[in-house]
Amino acid sequence: MSIQKKNQLVGLDIGCHSIKLVEIDYVKSGIALKSLGIAGLPPDAIVEGGIKEIEVVTSAIKNLFKNLKVKNKNVATSISGYSVIVKKISLEKKEESELEAVIYDEAEQYIPFDIKEVNLDFDTLRIANGAEEEEEGEKAAADGIDVMLVAAKKDVVDDYVSLLQAAQLNPMVMDVDSFALQNALELGIGEQKECCAIVNIGAEEIGINAVKNGISLFTRDSSYGGSEITREIMSEFNVPFEEAEKIKLGGTKVEKEKKSLEEIVTSVVSGWVQEIKRALDFVSNTYPDESIEKIYVCGGSCRISGFQKYLEQETAIPVFELNPLENLLINEKMFDMRYIKYMAPQVAVALGLALRSIGDK
Ligand SMILES: Nc1ncnc2c1ncn2[C@@H]1O[C@H](COP(=O)(O)OP(=O)(O)OP(=O)(O)O)[C@@H](O)[C@H]1O
Ligand SMILES: [Mg+2]
Repeated sequence: MSIQKKNQLVGLDIGCHSIKLVEIDYVKSGIALKSLGIAGLPPDAIVEGGIKEIEVVTSAIKNLFKNLKVKNKNVATSISGYSVIVKKISLEKKEESELEAVIYDEAEQYIPFDIKEVNLDFDTLRIANGAEEEEEGEKAAADGIDVMLVAAKKDVVDDYVSLLQAAQLNPMVMDVDSFALQNALELGIGEQKECCAIVNIGAEEIGINAVKNGISLFTRDSSYGGSEITREIMSEFNVPFEEAEKIKLGGTKVEKEKKSLEEIVTSVVSGWVQEIKRALDFVSNTYPDESIEKIYVCGGSCRISGFQKYLEQETAIPVFELNPLENLLINEKMFDMRYIKYMAPQVAVALGLALRSIGDK
């Protein structure tokens, strides 16, 4: 990777529960970690990807930059969930000049909003082989092309841009969580020849992405996540949000609460596992020749106790906690390595964003 320093961006993952920041530096011997941090948000600041309390979020971002002493104001951020649609479509081969018009035409049928309300972007994919297209009786890859279509709701993108500007930052790249995660995975373990799934379990959202050879076969964002557990603890134990989060992460000393806590976690987590299984079943039905060999989990909630084992049991696919920082040069005098290791799966999106640079695609 030969990216010039002046194009360096700060990766900023603005989630419902917390904002994650990662800054890297390209040095002679590789990629070094420069800054890494997280700032929590109150429960109603961002709801379903929509920014509700702009001042709260703005000041959280400003403080994060200040506390970590990050000077670079150029950032890459991302959106996900219902406001963005990522879809691989197959078209007959077209001249480059015609492509854009054809894609706009095609796109309309995949986008559940008015096409005027979205920013449309596309990327022509390398095609390794046309096996699956032939299997489905469609055109062979030789005379067809695959295009990755990305449609993002304009008003949501505009809100994120305004938010960053209010925090005195320059939004330079607007990415999608699932793409950022692919880049993070690639940095962490290299491009995967076999088909694997990246599952990001946040607070309000589970993002599932099946990838092979650096290309996404399928993505889905579902409304599940760690907040489900927090909310149930709040109502079961009659405690406020902060207290419920503490109980979730640290358990409870009250003997009779232990069982309820366990039941809450088990029932929520089994809902996640069922959702992930449904998505993986969909992938195997759509791509009968592919089989998912590994599942990489990330996001703050992938650390909930028992989840990874349960997912592995239910899917019979090996599950790994994604450590995208594995191959970074990390100065042990500057960073607490235990903290870095703990944070690694939660900052995967932010790291993927930090790998982007101005003007790349
Ligand atoms: N050790 C842990 N065990 C269980 N849950 C955890 C742990 N650490 C953090 N979480 C939970 O992870 C969630 C935050 O994860 P993350 O930062 O990935 O979410 P987010 O990006 O803010 O949310 P979203 O992607 O849904 O917008 C919270 O629900 C938090 O309680
Ligand atoms: Mg997230």
